Amino acid sequence: MCGIVGYVGVKNASKVLIEGLKRLEYRGYDSAGISVLLNGHLAISKTPGKVSRLEKMLPDAGSSVIGIGHTRWATHGEPNTVNAHPHTDCSGRIAIIHNGIIENYSALRTKLASMGHAFKSQTDTEVLAHLIEEFNKRFMNLEIAVRLALKEVDGTFGIVVMSESEPDVLVAARRGSPLVIGLGDSENLIASDASALIKHTREVIYLHDNEIAVITKEKVQLKNLEDEAVERETEHLTFDLEQIEKGGYAHFMLKEIHEQPDTVLNSMRGRLIDADGISMMGGLREVEEKIAKARRFVILACGTSWHAALVGKYIIEQYAKIPVEVDYASEFRYRNPVLLDGDIVWAISQSGETLDTLAALREAKKKGADAYGIVNVVGSTIARESDAGVYIHAGPEIGVASTKAFTSQLVVLNLINLYLARKRKSITLEQGKEIVEEMHRIPDKIRKIVENAGQVESIAEEFKESRNFLYLGRGVNFPVALEGALKLKEISYIHAEGYPAAEMKHGPIALIDENMPAVFIALRDSTYDKILSNIQEVRARKGNVIVIANEADDRLKELADHIIEVPTTLEALSPILSVIPLQLLSYYIAVKRGCNVDQPRNLAKSVTVE
Ligand code: G6P
Repeated sequence: MCGIVGYVGVKNASKVLIEGLKRLEYRGYDSAGISVLLNGHLAISKTPGKVSRLEKMLPDAGSSVIGIGHTRWATHGEPNTVNAHPHTDCSGRIAIIHNGIIENYSALRTKLASMGHAFKSQTDTEVLAHLIEEFNKRFMNLEIAVRLALKEVDGTFGIVVMSESEPDVLVAARRGSPLVIGLGDSENLIASDASALIKHTREVIYLHDNEIAVITKEKVQLKNLEDEAVERETEHLTFDLEQIEKGGYAHFMLKEIHEQPDTVLNSMRGRLIDADGISMMGGLREVEEKIAKARRFVILACGTSWHAALVGKYIIEQYAKIPVEVDYASEFRYRNPVLLDGDIVWAISQSGETLDTLAALREAKKKGADAYGIVNVVGSTIARESDAGVYIHAGPEIGVASTKAFTSQLVVLNLINLYLARKRKSITLEQGKEIVEEMHRIPDKIRKIVENAGQVESIAEEFKESRNFLYLGRGVNFPVALEGALKLKEISYIHAEGYPAAEMKHGPIALIDENMPAVFIALRDSTYDKILSNIQEVRARKGNVIVIANEADDRLKELADHIIEVPTTLEALSPILSVIPLQLLSYYIAVKRGCNVDQPRNLAKSVTVE
């Protein structure tokens, strides 16, 4: 999704901005631009494509010490130079960068055009530049102009504005799109994501919704949009830059797949009480009783997080015996859902910023439900707005296709399940202990799977030209099939469908011929015998069968063209293992097809628009 960087200080602003934008590349974007103040005038450079292309076309701006930069992921208007940010007013003296969507932009544009404003782009953002121009003409003060302009706006924004008339000031504001301010020595920065600041400072202030910041090189002043001063504590960032760099792997995605023994361990660290066969999560302590007494869970999420939610449904219903409904956040928020007394809503989100999930969470709260978060990014909006929650502690995930966040989400769902099942006495102490012991073994089992990446790579070589894939599983393996298919289509652009294996005969079976690879997740679990028949059905129609199976499964060896083995574990934990070969398969197929694995076309890491 779009990225924002702003700088005011003593260094070469263009350089700082370009470096910052490069750190934000992982968010996904299709054009980039910067504006710096050069000899009293705004110098703006913009281009479709990558930041490296922008860098090559920059003027020599060594004397510039203030500026703003942006990577845009197109929503209104195609990704071209004109639509790239920054956008300017009529005079070209005010420049703005914006994340989010101005919903009433069309009405505002008509009004401003009738007042004589000339528009250059098709974007919603440009109306803000002209609105600010209007108020700046009247009040001759950028902060006031921004504040008054924002009062006329519906929608979401994270913006940074600069003006020739106030050459040492950046004005920023937020509603719905994250912004973090970095505090330096004779310099201050602002960005949509702390990774763009960390090279310069670890002291940060998070801007909250409906707040405005006036930033100079010496000072940062916060106010709300009602013009009242706001006090905010400075926070110290603890994560390292190396953590968000590739660490020797060819791509972030591969690095993140290989990190999973550690990230999964981090997700459970300190949360398992071996002797009592139960889990404990600090973020839920206050609401433990409520959760244990819940009559129903409603889990809301998008994308990969939604697949994690679906795994949660299978395991929580089976062990903790609480009915679970899983909904796409985007559907929940608009269908006037019925929430009853005793319902608890959970929002699962890696980024904690996905707009649909956030809006669904707010909708649930509006309806009076208790709403808890399962989030990766600390301090993100969903984390802050949830009544309680659990961080998954997977660390920064940079590859757009989610991998390590998914397995950590599964760990946390298992922790919640274990807690509930023990509290509600639907499993015994002995069963609880068995789960705890097995959870401790999971990191080593993952290690074994990633060590076998070479075998998956050779299977990828064989199937890299396939045009379609089917992923099939039953029970808890069904969401894994969905996730496997999503991974493949996201990064290799091969059409892939995940299906409950038994449903295959009601449609997808018509597609099977010698050109159709079918990937089965066929573990020795409660659905094993059934899925063997489904595999036979594909074989009978000459489909290519790739199976994710448990070690030493002789029956499957006769049926499958390829077997990728995973260690045995408890059924509730098995998705944490069985998904990993599927992540690797899609990774290698995408690499072999020459695709941009970490930044697939049209996708964004953090989707902060509807
Ligand atoms: C985007 C990403 C997906 C992710 C989804 C939900 O589409 O590309 O990888 O699963 O958003 O994101 P969240 O941050 O809420 O988990």
